[in-house]
Amino acid sequence: MRIALSTGGGDAPGLNAVIRAAVLCAVNRGWEVLGVKRGYAGLLGEDEVMPLTAQSVRGIGHLGGTILRTTNRGNPFHYPVTLPDGTCIERDRSGEVLENARKLGIDALISIGGDGSLRIAQQLCDMGMKIVCVPKTIDNDVSETITTFGFDTAVNTALDAIDKLHTTAESHDRVIVLEVMGRHAGFIALNSGVAGTADVILIPEIPYDIEKVCEKIRERDRRGRNFSIVVIAEGAFPKGSAPAVRSAKVGQPVRLGNVAESLAQEIEARTGKECRSLVLGHLQRGGQPTSYDRLLAVRFGGAAVRAVAEEKWGYMLALQSPNIVYVPIAEVLRHSKSVDPNHDLVLTARATGISFGD
Ligand code: F6P
Repeated sequence: MRIALSTGGGDAPGLNAVIRAAVLCAVNRGWEVLGVKRGYAGLLGEDEVMPLTAQSVRGIGHLGGTILRTTNRGNPFHYPVTLPDGTCIERDRSGEVLENARKLGIDALISIGGDGSLRIAQQLCDMGMKIVCVPKTIDNDVSETITTFGFDTAVNTALDAIDKLHTTAESHDRVIVLEVMGRHAGFIALNSGVAGTADVILIPEIPYDIEKVCEKIRERDRRGRNFSIVVIAEGAFPKGSAPAVRSAKVGQPVRLGNVAESLAQEIEARTGKECRSLVLGHLQRGGQPTSYDRLLAVRFGGAAVRAVAEEKWGYMLALQSPNIVYVPIAEVLRHSKSVDPNHDLVLTARATGISFGD
């Protein structure tokens, strides 16, 4: 038995722990393991495949990033190709993926990725490839699984920033706007904002009214709380508007965000308060995974190898506490996960005085 592992999309703390666990579980069954480098590029002649042994995964379980490297521009069905005149077009290179996997003697692939990787896996499965998926994203927007590894680490990084911003905001009587990641989902903003006792949390699932945001800040001032912390998810937007697109390029996912500074300026203009902004950015994707993320990653890595042994092609592993279960990828892709505005965390946040700007 020869299996391959690949990591696709944005990296998330815990990827190396999945790789380590999967390799050790596979090797201990007497299987061979190959690592496909940089998403599917390693199967398209644009990067390599590397043997993964017990030796090659030594000492990586606590490290962020991925030893296999990754990309969010490697969809083999929409592969970006630059023409001699410099224009970029998309080409379908999926047939080459199957052909090269066959030539390398790969019996099955464990694909570790988010919704983009899941969609690719489903299409490759439809073409006959044997794939099991492990969900990965700091955004926590993959449905059917309670959470994904990387999310807890990202929330803790954001929380650390909120804690630090509190003391300086209070010292200067300022409003500080912190922008966190999450694409179209507000989980990072919600969880870090509630844990960090932010005053305003703006998420894509609850479009905001700038006047309501300012009213919350003025109300705090009236009570002698002359500073405020506003956490905004990069995909959040005012009522009647749409998420701010930072860039949209051929063969790449749309990038959202850069909303913190304009929000800070708007608040300053309306309230007269001094405002500052911070985009936390890729700090949320780096660093050592928390113990929660490491444990989830290890569980997913081991379960992925069992899923291969059970020939669960076209399935994704999911945490449905207390168990890891198998869910058809097609089921997962039916909808993406987002914050339920009636979730108890939102209700309790509101009841404790946090404004969602609505
Ligand atoms: O999906 C993970 C994520 O970090 C999102 O939160 C963010 O919108 C995006 O990736 C950023 O992507 P990039 O690394 O291409 O800037």
